[in-house]
Amino acid sequence: KPLEREVLSEKWWQKRRADIELCLESRENAYIYNLSAVKDNISALKSISAVDQIFFAVKANNHPQVLTTAFQQGIGFETVSIYEVETVLEMFPDISKERIFFTPNFASRIEYEKALDYGVMLSLDSSYPLKKWSETFANKSIFLRVDPNIGKGHHENVRTAGATSKFGIPIQEIEQLLPIIKENNIKVVGLHAHAGSGILTNEHWAEHAKLLAEVASQFSEVKFLNLGGGFGIKERAQQTELTMEQINQSLQAVKAQYPQYQLWIEPGRYIVANTGVLVAKATQVKQKQNYYYVGINTGMNSLMRPALYGSYHPIVNFSRLSETKKHLATVVGPICESTDKLGIEIPFPDTFEGDLILIENAGAYGHVMSTHYNMRAPAEEVCIP
Ligand code: LLP
Repeated sequence: KPLEREVLSEKWWQKRRADIELCLESRENAYIYNLSAVKDNISALKSISAVDQIFFAVKANNHPQVLTTAFQQGIGFETVSIYEVETVLEMFPDISKERIFFTPNFASRIEYEKALDYGVMLSLDSSYPLKKWSETFANKSIFLRVDPNIGKGHHENVRTAGATSKFGIPIQEIEQLLPIIKENNIKVVGLHAHAGSGILTNEHWAEHAKLLAEVASQFSEVKFLNLGGGFGIKERAQQTELTMEQINQSLQAVKAQYPQYQLWIEPGRYIVANTGVLVAKATQVKQKQNYYYVGINTGMNSLMRPALYGSYHPIVNFSRLSETKKHLATVVGPICESTDKLGIEIPFPDTFEGDLILIENAGAYGHVMSTHYNMRAPAEEVCIP
């Protein structure tokens, strides 16, 4: 019972029942994003006054209205493919190029050339481009993405550091690159690190700042330290939320020690995860041995996170919020895969065909990772103000 109350208290989607029902009148299922919640999350991040610039990680949610909201709040965009760069440039033709940060991984030479032509900032996360395509970067300003060596995050598959990770330049390799950088008059204006996604320790970003500040001592032109994204959200009752105040305090301490650097962050999840819900209709229920299965009309084709990482998304029967939870339900989609389970052993009421089933925290890495598997179109996206 206490768990239920926690899940149901103070959720924006409870106050927006009419909007949600309206969205589902003309659709079988939908991702619904609350734009004012996006603004609130950006404001929370802005309270970290030690941070000089925030970039929204476009990969988390690229809905045009979400991007517009981020743009209107004055933050920049972290982009991971040239297509994301081009989307941002097309949507906001007057955007200052310093508000776009390009952080690809194993991209082709042509993507870097295009990004340089567009004049956006970019980070190299391997020595290969510097060694093999040095003329591309000659006389240009770049960032280097350093491997912080310790991966962090909610699941092994989202940790991006250490020998088994394909990301970043090992710190010990940086020194070898100095002659190439010098010969080609490449200006390393910033350093960058990202350890993973879904981090819930407040000190993490200050640790990155210190690490990067130490590496920066090898360069004379470094001005910016990009501490990466990874800001986690509370998903389970036993987790503790990040506190912006503590993150700020720890970063202020680093700033006092290294006042010469501007600090940047590039969160995705924190800005959008709790602003989105996936709502679908119940198709059938099945009691099979001890399991109560609730089938809904979309599954891992819309939301892949539970199948990919075992991620936990609270799920409620939106049509019967006040009814007694009689079952521990497994909520499944119609996809022909055993991993097509959106929630396992979720307290649930008796459920009927056509009930609206609402899946929380679906605003980040939801629709962007969807597929047309089984020829089932993923849920459409709708924004509410
Ligand atoms: N910066 C870099 C260099 C990144 O690789 C990422 C995420 C971010 C920033 C934003 O991270 P965030 O603040 O959103 O944690 N699909 C996974 C997450 C993959 C994250 C990939 N990189 C999931 O659904 O949990």
